[in-house]
Amino acid sequence: MKIAVAGTGYVGLVTGVALAEIGHNVTCVDIDEKKLEVMRNGISPIYEEGLEELMKKNKERLTYTSNYKEAYKDADVIIIGVGTPERKDGSANLDYVFGVSKQIAESLEKDCVVVVKSTVPIGTNDEVEKYINENVKDGILVHVASNPEFLAQGTAVRDTLHASRIVIGTENKEAEEILKKMYEPLTKEPYNVPLLATNRRSAEMIKYASNDFLALKISYINEIANLCDALGANVEDVSKGMGLDSRIGNKFLNAGIGYGGSCFPKDTKALHFLSVQKGVELKTVKACIEVNESQKTVLFRKLKNDIKDLNGKTIAVLGLTFKPGTDDLREAPSIYNIELLLDAGANIKAYDPISIESFKKKISYKLEDDGVTGTITYFDNIDNAIMNADAVLIMTEWPEIKNYDLSKYEELMNNALIYDGRNCYKLSDIANYNISYKSIGRAYHSKSIPKIKKKLHN
Ligand code: UGA
Repeated sequence: MKIAVAGTGYVGLVTGVALAEIGHNVTCVDIDEKKLEVMRNGISPIYEEGLEELMKKNKERLTYTSNYKEAYKDADVIIIGVGTPERKDGSANLDYVFGVSKQIAESLEKDCVVVVKSTVPIGTNDEVEKYINENVKDGILVHVASNPEFLAQGTAVRDTLHASRIVIGTENKEAEEILKKMYEPLTKEPYNVPLLATNRRSAEMIKYASNDFLALKISYINEIANLCDALGANVEDVSKGMGLDSRIGNKFLNAGIGYGGSCFPKDTKALHFLSVQKGVELKTVKACIEVNESQKTVLFRKLKNDIKDLNGKTIAVLGLTFKPGTDDLREAPSIYNIELLLDAGANIKAYDPISIESFKKKISYKLEDDGVTGTITYFDNIDNAIMNADAVLIMTEWPEIKNYDLSKYEELMNNALIYDGRNCYKLSDIANYNISYKSIGRAYHSKSIPKIKKKLHN
């Protein structure tokens, strides 16, 4: 089967490489010549476990090109895997999807199935099909099918090959059969991925409803965590206790500093936008968005509550990416907290194992702001980042951070004060050190309280 994939971001590239792995010839199309050259050399432009190995292993079946006409003209299946970023009003920006649709219409020389893998508002597949069929050469017929992806960054290759499900949404039986054939190696041994065929709108909805439900779970547990803080309960035990009920499940119940990344923030807003537009507002999703907005900066508020004047204080920030295992900084809570710290005049010492260079670019606009008196310096090791710091904020649960020796905080900081946004450490371990420690939805461990008590008793 001749397959072309439009877009070589997380979705497009991982899909293309996975399809090559199961035996298809795949042409990956992108406009970025520099990136194409990198990929032609077998190098992945994104940090994703296992991807580069598969690119190398399947190089005979993978072509990278900017010549979309050649790639699309006689393809059996064209997969659209371009971004659908958020517009200012929260709706999804479909410019890239329709840009590719235009190129497909211009190029096709035979009938073809076009697959929309990008996350798009319900009804978009209908519009894409209408648009391509109205603009393609006479006599050519295109069927458009929705085939959402469910891959998470950091585990993208595994999530594609060992997917939880493959959803194919199309009203056309022939297109459905072609896509079933394309995915056949994945629905059989050893992968055995379940395949669900639905109509197009249901498939589009499955994607949004799934992501928004996961986001809801996170916002819910974050609110419960904040209440645990106020009431003296332990959110970890609460999550565990809830998760033992198989109807609830134990996944995505880790309290923290809110969800980030390129998916949940935009997908919750886009579905909420659509629901308001249709007069059926999703109030649960609205609440989920509001909770997340506030949760993103909960660590800064905890810090500010303890250190009223942050001007000139040295604050170490550990972890910059929105989650571990990825170099992606989109909607990372670190950005919002660092903005507030800079505004407050703090001097930040930032550590991340892989994304320092991209973070520098991301935050540069803030440092150019005349009103900002704070500074930021970067470190590629935790020791130097926390050295002489007045407080530490843990933003990402990288293994390097989770496994960092607690005695070092005691040893290297001015006065070990840690705000852990990812509950990286066990409270029982913290208790062995002279550290003040605040996490999310768990008891505050203060090193000063026992000392003061001691003095009082003396
Ligand atoms: C998410 C979904 O998990 C994928 O299924 C989906 O295909 C993808 O979006 C997409 O639409 O493309 P991703 O954004 O890569 O994947 O990352 P997640 O692992 O879901 O994490 C998202 C955010 O939620 C992170 O900031 C993470 O720290 C946070 N999170 C996750 C929590 O705060 N608590 C949890 O228990 C789980």
